[in-house]
Amino acid sequence: MLRDELVKHLATRRGMQVDASQLLITSGSQQALHFVAELLLRPNDKVLVESPGYPGTAAVMRAAGAKVESISWQSLQQGLPTGLKAKCLCVTPSRNFPLGHTLTLQARLALLNWAEQQHCWIIEDDFDCEFATGQPITALYALSKEQRVIYTGTFSRTMFPSLRLGYLVLPRALVPGMLKLRGYQDGGLTRLPQHTLGKFMAEGYYSRHLKKMRQLYQQRREALLTAISASPLSALPVIDAGAGCTWYRPCRRIARISRSASNSIRRV
Ligand SMILES: Cc1ncc(COP(=O)(O)O)c(C=O)c1O
Repeated sequence: MLRDELVKHLATRRGMQVDASQLLITSGSQQALHFVAELLLRPNDKVLVESPGYPGTAAVMRAAGAKVESISWQSLQQGLPTGLKAKCLCVTPSRNFPLGHTLTLQARLALLNWAEQQHCWIIEDDFDCEFATGQPITALYALSKEQRVIYTGTFSRTMFPSLRLGYLVLPRALVPGMLKLRGYQDGGLTRLPQHTLGKFMAEGYYSRHLKKMRQLYQQRREALLTAISASPLSALPVIDAGAGCTWYRPCRRIARISRSASNSIRRV
């Protein structure tokens, strides 16, 4: 039931046309990353990991024996050099962790083009896509004609991390190998939380919850922007990342201002 609901959710929110057989429920996206690393990597394979980024990604790739190289978010945005080669590239294109930026459509298409030419797998970590402020952007997975993208999603952000439910969406070519690997590793997760979450989605509660939380976070964001504009920080530019705000040049005063902003937020 959960996989069927995810198929519908991914089609409406992420523009992904997949069937349930391409979906694997995992213990958060951390386990999803681990499975992908186990399946694809051999010792000393090169893996490019976006920087700044979630440290757990590089750690899991290293644990699989890969040579990890950082790739700056700016390089991803400007286009990777044609000669650059790697087995995998790990990115959070919908919302960079921790800056919150979104890769432009042009940059995402250029990345796919590069990956297809280099026969590189892209691991799209969509950890934080649900609460973006504008229209949801199409997942990289949905844009890849040659199925070079492996997608990971999670309920840690939208529900709670201790639920430990995430998912992997695989290109068809990787499904048989991954099912075999899963069989060796854990044979699947406990069914009860999956069934409960599936029912929660099927009965419309999950989409209502997302809508409510989006409105709440929007209110908090506005309260934060108001607090910043009324503070000494107002001279610094606030860059709208479309998925939240980042400061151009962080400074120590931010900590003080954030404290006063969080007091206003608590009142919302
Ligand atoms: C970008 C990113 N990816 C993956 C994870 C792992 O999340 P989980 O295993 O809880 O789904 C995190 C956790 O903070 C994260 O920030």
